Amino acid sequence: MNLNQFYIGDAVEFMRTKIPENCVDLTVTSPPYETLRDYEGYEFNAATMLQGLFRVTRPGGVLVWVVGDKIKGGRSLVSFEQALLAREQGFVIHDVMIYQKKNTPFMRSNAYTNCYEFMFVFSKGKPKTFNPLKEPTKRNGMEMGVSNKGPDAVNRKVPVELKKEKTRNNIWPYAVGLGGSTNDKIAFQHPAVFPEKLASDHILSWSNPGDLVFDPMCGSGTTCKMASILGRQWLGVDMSAAYIDIARERVRQLGLQYAQG
Ligand SMILES: C[S@@+](CC[C@H](N)C(=O)[O-])C[C@H]1O[C@@H](n2cnc3c(N)ncnc32)[C@H](O)[C@@H]1O
Repeated sequence: MNLNQFYIGDAVEFMRTKIPENCVDLTVTSPPYETLRDYEGYEFNAATMLQGLFRVTRPGGVLVWVVGDKIKGGRSLVSFEQALLAREQGFVIHDVMIYQKKNTPFMRSNAYTNCYEFMFVFSKGKPKTFNPLKEPTKRNGMEMGVSNKGPDAVNRKVPVELKKEKTRNNIWPYAVGLGGSTNDKIAFQHPAVFPEKLASDHILSWSNPGDLVFDPMCGSGTTCKMASILGRQWLGVDMSAAYIDIARERVRQLGLQYAQG
């Protein structure tokens, strides 16, 4: 198995036969959306996928599993069923994060507009890498604050320096669609592309340069493209040859961009 390549095939079989155990540092992936999307009639088995992912994940490695519920006559909660399956396979549910869609949310006539999916952060034991992403604070610089550290316990105003940035919270908003998820028009030949920024934010958070980043259901190749840009090793698998063509083209265009400076 060569790294920095896309492979066509069933990822469960691919992991079983081609990937040694304990070698993947980070997986960022998204399973097929129940019956909402047509994936050539293929029936998805979350349990065997998660079992394979647990085997190939390095101790301390992380699996980011991006999933939304089908909403028809109520929410399916397949998202949570899959999270519990991941735990049964041995993963720790390290966090349940929200991917908020800033545009094209799902409208409902009798409930509030649905605008998010879950990003489950599963880990094999305690995560070995966490590089927290920061954001600027609203108020920063010097400000007068109250201190009563003196022996008389009297409140006094003293100048305090407010922090310029803070660690982000676990709700991550992204624009979706062309110009939001990606500028690669070709990517939208796939029906369910997730944002490049979502992939890169997780890659930066849970891996380091040189680490192996995997996407067993890579679709249009978003995770692998961002892993390549961020100097990680990567591996992408999808059962659809047509989707792998798109993924290969996106990474090829990336090489051209770099070649042109
Ligand atoms: C939600 S899409 C992933 C989209 C991707 N994150 C992107 O940004 O383009 C899920 C993908 O899983 C693939 N898939 C489903 N079952 C699979 C399996 N057993 N092995 C490999 N790929 C599979 C589908 O072909 C589909 O492209």
